[in-house]
Amino acid sequence: MLTSLVLLLGTFLLVEKALADSNLPSRFLKYASEQDERFCFGYEPGCQQNSSYSAEVGMPKCDKDVWPKAMSNFYEQADFGYVRTRRNLHEVCVSADTEKKSSLRCSDNLLYCYAKNVFFDLSNLRAATSKRYRNDVIQHGQVGGNCETFWPQVLQNNLKQAGYLSSWAHELNHFRSNALFAVNERNCDIVFERPTIAIKLDAALNMYHHFCDFINLYASQHINGSFHMDVDIIWWDTDTNEYGDHAFGVTWKAFSLWKPIELKSLDGKRVCFKSLMLPLLARQYGGLYYNMPLEPGCHGSGLVHSFSEHLLHRLAVPKWEASLEEVRLVILSRSTTFRRMLNIGKAGLFFFKNLSKG
Ligand SMILES: *[C@@H]1O[C@H](CO)[C@@H](O)[C@H](O)[C@H]1NC(C)=O
Ligand SMILES: *[C@@H]1O[C@H](CO)[C@@H](O)[C@H](O)[C@H]1NC(C)=O
Ligand SMILES: *[C@@H]1O[C@H](CO)[C@@H](O)[C@H](O)[C@H]1NC(C)=O
Repeated sequence: MLTSLVLLLGTFLLVEKALADSNLPSRFLKYASEQDERFCFGYEPGCQQNSSYSAEVGMPKCDKDVWPKAMSNFYEQADFGYVRTRRNLHEVCVSADTEKKSSLRCSDNLLYCYAKNVFFDLSNLRAATSKRYRNDVIQHGQVGGNCETFWPQVLQNNLKQAGYLSSWAHELNHFRSNALFAVNERNCDIVFERPTIAIKLDAALNMYHHFCDFINLYASQHINGSFHMDVDIIWWDTDTNEYGDHAFGVTWKAFSLWKPIELKSLDGKRVCFKSLMLPLLARQYGGLYYNMPLEPGCHGSGLVHSFSEHLLHRLAVPKWEASLEEVRLVILSRSTTFRRMLNIGKAGLFFFKNLSKG
């Protein structure tokens, strides 16, 4: 009894250590630990709402007079429920031995996919004359793997939400299985050995848009259940100019130890991946958080809260107390049809009153 307890404690400590080494905020450890089933982020099978991350941080919150389904709708739209629905993966291509052969699994409408031992042929990129947001880079015969079982119909059934920043439909539409394919020098000009993330990107200059990229990448790591930083990142940007992530580029350091690679640098090459994530993108239909439907009367998302904690931890941003006397607040109010703050008057007053109190 005592020995088994010691053993159990031993494994528990080992797991805790492995998790700590994976550089997660300490608050995450009990949720990420598979040893302790009492706690969960919120999307795991059998996860009790009361022991989830969101419950601990007191989110989401709804007004008293909302309809009964409001809270769970909000949870699906903006909290860890967003991860849960996208974690149901369809098998497009599977093999028993994925050391050599291929696999491809995707959530509904190819919003997120994970592949092993696959290739993309980038001979149609033609970077020197390429344009932004191109959906025609990957043509027939330019993507595939070697699957023991391949379900082309599953692929066909999930092409409905095609769009550059909505899904991977345009890149995977032509995926085929070829019994002669293997990741080797004959088939590949370049082989990515490390797990790789290829991500199509929204505008880098605008924090609102660019953080749609980052939070969806973070949510995708929850889908894969891994926050390893020894991963390569490819910016799947088809513009002829460099992606030039000067304003918020430091954020990539929360995801990878390595400098992101531009798609352009792979122009014309047959590129093979041993392990490839195609993450959730910035402008899914009803996605997080561009064009996002939100249940009225509710607010506060555990997923977004954890994203914030995670970034602050990984980027080692010190938490300074704000000194009210020294805060300068600038509100930029635009006057376009859709991009307007409707409550700018109220918001200004809110901040002003609080500041003048200090
Ligand atoms: C959550 O609620 C269940 C019963 O509904 C209870 O068994 C469990 O202990 C609770 N978990 C926590 C962490 O409070
Ligand atoms: C996905 O998860 C697997 C299993 O934990 C891990 O080996 C791999 O590195 C992860 N991929 C990425 C891109 O993080
Ligand atoms: C000041 O801010 C607090 C939240 O920090 C808020 O509850 C309060 O209503 C604000 N005061 C005014 C006068 O707007």
